[in-house]
Amino acid sequence: MSKLIVVSNRVSLPHPDQPSAGGLAVALHDALNEIGGVWLGWNGEQVDDGQLPAFDHIECDQVDYITCALQRSHYQKYYCGFANNTLWPAMHDRADLIRFKQDEYEAYQQVNYLFAQKLAQIAEPDDVIWIHDYHFFSMARYCRELGMQNKIGFFLHIPFAPADIWQVLPRATALIEDLHDYDVIGLQTENDQKNCMQVSTSLLKAMQINAHLISYKGHLTTIKCYPIGIHPDSIQELSVAAAPQALPMPNKKGTQKTIIGVDRIDYSKGLIQRFDALADFFNQYPRYQTQLTALQIACPCRLDIEAYQALNHALNQQVERINQQFSRGDWQPIDCRQEVIAHESLMRVYRAAQICWVTSLSDGMNLVAKEYIAAQNPLDPGVLILSKYAGAAEQMSAALIVDPLDAVEMREALKTAMEIPKSERLQRYQQLIKGLYQYDINDWRNQFLWDLMHHHQLFEHCIKQPTHRAAHMVF
Ligand code: UDP
Ligand code: G6P
Repeated sequence: MSKLIVVSNRVSLPHPDQPSAGGLAVALHDALNEIGGVWLGWNGEQVDDGQLPAFDHIECDQVDYITCALQRSHYQKYYCGFANNTLWPAMHDRADLIRFKQDEYEAYQQVNYLFAQKLAQIAEPDDVIWIHDYHFFSMARYCRELGMQNKIGFFLHIPFAPADIWQVLPRATALIEDLHDYDVIGLQTENDQKNCMQVSTSLLKAMQINAHLISYKGHLTTIKCYPIGIHPDSIQELSVAAAPQALPMPNKKGTQKTIIGVDRIDYSKGLIQRFDALADFFNQYPRYQTQLTALQIACPCRLDIEAYQALNHALNQQVERINQQFSRGDWQPIDCRQEVIAHESLMRVYRAAQICWVTSLSDGMNLVAKEYIAAQNPLDPGVLILSKYAGAAEQMSAALIVDPLDAVEMREALKTAMEIPKSERLQRYQQLIKGLYQYDINDWRNQFLWDLMHHHQLFEHCIKQPTHRAAHMVF
């Protein structure tokens, strides 16, 4: 019987004492646990360069985890280098932060090849292969070179940059070419889908067959948007369940409110703009001082990369400055916790906060926005402030949508969130929660895998009912 094999750089290993922050690990964990399969990737460790990393197997529930360490130079050049210092800033609209070194690109290719080799060893011909995120743009190419004819899909969890960024990104054509060895490419939003199509046709001169199908060198690739979802019911259950650990719960009195933020410390999350807006809000509306506390779960991330070190430093200084400026008695405006909370426990924290803010300057989907809504008390729900640059904004228009770069809009959104009447909170919540049920994480997985498994039928379709361009392509 055919099995599903997923591959991602970050794997959510079944270690309850090591929770991981990041939408990919959370989503794949939820998507795989129900149907089972193999999850191949990095175990988060490093070994010396002379040492050949060995693959470990752990079986838990229905999932077979196969992971290995990265050699130190691969960690530096592939993970800290090309993946997170070239591709990440490029895809998140930070051309100013793009750093490129040829040896880092080569290390990226080596790691793609290394995991492709492992895949070729473990995959049966009828297994379905689903590769995730920007770490592995080139993996399908190596799988094909190694003779694999399996259906291979790719899902990009982060934004797909527009053509002008790809034009300045070194090795762009090679990467996009490699991407077209996948059968299905999944993106988070319609806008990403549009960008991907456009880059394929402009950079590669690939032929567009229809709105979702592209042909390059005789290979057909479906490029479609599959917005990632969550499990609303299980989040609702967890939001009222007893927490196994002491949680950073809002510490408020009387009419005081808490606004929660949950983010990796990443320049894509707009953390600095967020706290600037908070300070501006307290200056402009002093009556709200002591009435609102910002609880920030700030997860340390990629600390071996200079841009992340600089952000950490700037964020710590900013929080300290704002706390010094506004603290009154035992109240201080920002309670910033640099830790990762077990995913299950986090749902309780969401429920205890009256407001949540997501202020990304660029973001794939942002699961925090969806989880916050799913965790609310349906009879007395909280308010979501959501950046228009998060993928979630395409679906969650009933949130208070803001431009985090517009300081006045941000400040006024805080005021609205503080003053919003219960009837409006309920109305917005009902619209948002309905959307979360309409397309949940199972739909995301099922829709993608359905398209992947039926991909070959596209060929038949093209042969039987050729459009003018398809006929030209096939024969
Ligand atoms: N998360 C968590 N514990 C934390 C912080 C975050 O479990 O302490 C999870 C959070 O619940 C969400 C994911 O990490 O599922 C973050 O995903 P999101 O899409 O919001 O952002 P990303 O980090 O992927 O950019
Ligand atoms: C984002 C990316 C994931 C990544 C996560 C955490 O969600 O899309 O691929 O796993 O950030 O980043 P890290 O570098 O710690 O894996």
